[in-house]
Amino acid sequence: MDNFTFYSPTYFVFGRDTENEAGTYIKKFGGSRVLIHYGGGSVKRSGLLDRVKKSLEDAGLTYVELGGVQPNPRSGLVYEGIELCRKEKVDFILAVGGGSTIDSSKGIAAGTLYDGDFWELYQTGVAPAALPIGTILTIAAAGSEGSGDSVVTKEEGMLKRATHGDVLRPKFSILNPALTQTLPPYQTAYGVTDIMAHLFERYLTNTKDVEVTDRLIEGLLLTMIHEAPRVLENPDNYEARANIMWAGMMAHNNSVGVGRTQDWTSHDIEHELSALYDCAHGAGLAVVMPNVMKYTYKHDITRFAKAAVRIWGCQMDFDDPERTALEGIARFRSFLTSIGMPKNFEELGAREEDIAILADVACNGDGRPGYLEGFTKLSQKDIEEIYRLCL
Ligand code: NZQ
Ligand code: ZN
Repeated sequence: MDNFTFYSPTYFVFGRDTENEAGTYIKKFGGSRVLIHYGGGSVKRSGLLDRVKKSLEDAGLTYVELGGVQPNPRSGLVYEGIELCRKEKVDFILAVGGGSTIDSSKGIAAGTLYDGDFWELYQTGVAPAALPIGTILTIAAAGSEGSGDSVVTKEEGMLKRATHGDVLRPKFSILNPALTQTLPPYQTAYGVTDIMAHLFERYLTNTKDVEVTDRLIEGLLLTMIHEAPRVLENPDNYEARANIMWAGMMAHNNSVGVGRTQDWTSHDIEHELSALYDCAHGAGLAVVMPNVMKYTYKHDITRFAKAAVRIWGCQMDFDDPERTALEGIARFRSFLTSIGMPKNFEELGAREEDIAILADVACNGDGRPGYLEGFTKLSQKDIEEIYRLCL
C-alpha cells in the first residue's frame, strides 16, 4: 500500500425528511447569508425548494437564489454566481440538486475568493480557498456530495475540466434517498453507471497488495449490480435507493481509493464526449469504459481476471486467464445494456469524423502533456483507437 493522507470532513445527514434540517446545519457551520443554487427545475416541481427555503427561514437565515444549472454545468453561470455572491456578501452556498449543481456551487465558492478568472483554477486543477458549501443531493451519481472535486465546462471551445482541493469538500451533505424517487429511469441508470465507473477507475491500479480497498470496491460494485435492477423495476424502492445513494458517496469520497494508484483515463476520454455532444456523463462512460478495458486489459490480465471472478461471478480459467478477463469485461458490457445504457457512438449521438479532434483535446487541450496516464499510458493514437472501438 502506498503512503497516503485522507481528509473527509463532510458531516453526512442521511434519511427521510432530513432536507428540513438544512437551516440548522448551515447555522452549525457558520453560515448566515446563503446562496441557494439549483438546476433546471426538478427541485421546484417536487416542492423540495419550498421546503428548503422554509427550513432556512425557520432558522433565521437570509438567502438569495440562483437556478438554471444545466447538466454538464457551464462557466457562464459560475461567473454570474461569483458576481452575485460578492454583491450580496454571501458567506455560505447551499447546492440543491445533482452533481452539476454541486460542481457549479463549488466553482462559485472557489471563484468568489479567487483574485482572478476562476477558470484558471480549472486549468491548474487546484482550488486553494473556497466559501463553505452544503449540499442536498437529489441524484446518486457523481459523488460530488463527498468529494473535493468540481467539473465545469467552458462554453468557448466546450472544454470540460476539473479542479480539486479539500476546501471544496462540503461542510455537510443531506442525503434523503426518497428525493431520488422522482428520477426518470434513464437518469437513475446514468447515475448507477457513473458510480460503477468511479469504483472501476480505482480498481484499475498498479499498486500491489491493496486487499482492503480491493475488497471494499468489490463489495460496492456487487451492491450496485444487486440494487440497480431492483430500483429500475420499482422506482419507489426506498431501501434499494438508500443503498445506491450511500454507495455513490463511498465510491467517490476516496475512502476506497487511498494508498493505491488510480486510473481515470475513461473519465478523461468521456469528458470530451459530454463536452462536445452535451450527452450525460454516465451515458458517455457506458460507451467508453468497456472499450478502455478491452484496450488495456493486457497490461494486467490477473487484475481483470480477479474482477471477472470476484465481481462478475465468472469461473477462473487457470489454463487461459485472458479468457476469464475478457469474459468479465463482456459481462460488464451486458450489465450496462441490461440497465438501458448506450453502447456505441451512434446511440450516444457522437460522430466518427470528430475522433481526431476528440483525441487531440483529450491529450493536448488546456496544457495537457500530449498523453493520458493512469492504469496505463495512452498516447493520442491510443485514444483515437479507443474512440474507434466505440463506433
Ligand atoms: O436540473 P434539474 O431540473 O434538477 O434536472 C436534473 C438534470 O436534468 C435531473 N435530476 C436531478 N435530480 C432529480 C432530477 N430529475 C428528477 N428528480 C430528481 N430527483 O437529472 C439531470 C442530471 O443532473 P446532473 O446534476 O447533471 O447529474 P449528475 O449528478 O450525474 O452530475 C453530472 C455532472 O457531474 C460531473 C459530470 O462530469 C457531470 O458534469 N462529475 C462530477 C464529479 C465530482 N464533482 O466529483 C465526478 C464525476 O466523475 C463527474 O465527472
Ligand atoms: Zn464520473
